[in-house]
Amino acid sequence: MQSRIIGTGACVPDDVLTNEAIERLVDTSDEWIVSRTGIRERRRTGGTEASSDLAYKAARYALRDAGVKAGEVDLVLVATTTPDMLLPSTACIVQDRLGLKNVPAFDLSAACTGFIYGLSTADAFIRSGAYGTILLIGVDTLTKFTDYGDRTTCVIFGDGAGAVVVKAIREKRGVIGSMLYADGDKWDYIYVPAGGSRIPSYAADKTTWYLRMKGHDTFKVAVRGLEQAIIGLLERYRVPIEDIDIVIPHQANVRIIEALTRKLGYPPEKVFVNIQKYGNTSAASIPIALDEAVRQGRIKSGDTVLLTAFGSGLTWGASLIKW
Ligand code: ACO
Repeated sequence: MQSRIIGTGACVPDDVLTNEAIERLVDTSDEWIVSRTGIRERRRTGGTEASSDLAYKAARYALRDAGVKAGEVDLVLVATTTPDMLLPSTACIVQDRLGLKNVPAFDLSAACTGFIYGLSTADAFIRSGAYGTILLIGVDTLTKFTDYGDRTTCVIFGDGAGAVVVKAIREKRGVIGSMLYADGDKWDYIYVPAGGSRIPSYAADKTTWYLRMKGHDTFKVAVRGLEQAIIGLLERYRVPIEDIDIVIPHQANVRIIEALTRKLGYPPEKVFVNIQKYGNTSAASIPIALDEAVRQGRIKSGDTVLLTAFGSGLTWGASLIKW
């Protein structure tokens, strides 16, 4: 059995937060943000709008695109580090909203690498024969954990969700394989101190409830990690880099993407970039980009597609797909 992505969908909140709007909040400029990150605007959830709201809509679009009824799904996987609540899982909330009964649902947490971890998990379940049709969603609402008084983080993050339907097939196409990595030694490069069992919500204050990031250190490790993941994956599956038709990288910083492309000697025009519109949407960034690439005709049947991501944990990885 092989697993194939047969439908994609995405959803971002309506509220657009431009660089000009951020200029009014902190000491920064559109010029600095564009030249240092590539971001022009991002989307932000408001009020009580939560991850499951975006995840549900992205899931509906992906199911429609796949021509699959919700009732045919036999596993719901949600990659997120910003669940609606600590418990239950956001996957269970989405399962309920889709009207699904008696199918397993769970969240997995690998921050910006969540979609790669999720795709690898879905692929393993399908290859084992355990499930035949899996709904995989990457969603994050990191703006809810962003300090709009901290210019080093507030320019970066946006909210969104992307979803895919992964189906078991008996053909030589689909997911070729994935490589996953983690280095917990660097857990404090990107983290939210409060809200878990270390500092419960009732003990949190302004110094602990927002995301903290060692941006510059993360940048350097990210470029090395992404290169390692890609080279390791291509070697394992004996695919020369010239055979890759499109690379869909996690949209964290356009300079990370450019540095990676230079190191690999890969043509920049074959790398999909949409960070200017959404910023870093964490686990949603790859499935949103994948959905856009498919809709723009940038991915055709038979293409070899490479996905790669890096994030808090630290975690990183890559997946290879024959579309
Ligand atoms: N506007 C103006 N100046 C700024 C801003 C801003 N928004 N942010 C930082 N600066 C200043 C700093 O204060 C510093 O000033 P100083 O030299 O006077 O001290 C200067 O710019 C340089 O700061 P750096 O942190 O070195 O800036 P850098 O070029 O590294 O860009 C950034 C910062 C954009 C955060 C970059 O490091 C980055 O993108 N890092 C990677 C983030 C990432 O990939 N995270 C992983 C995913 S997140 C997840 O998993 C949830």
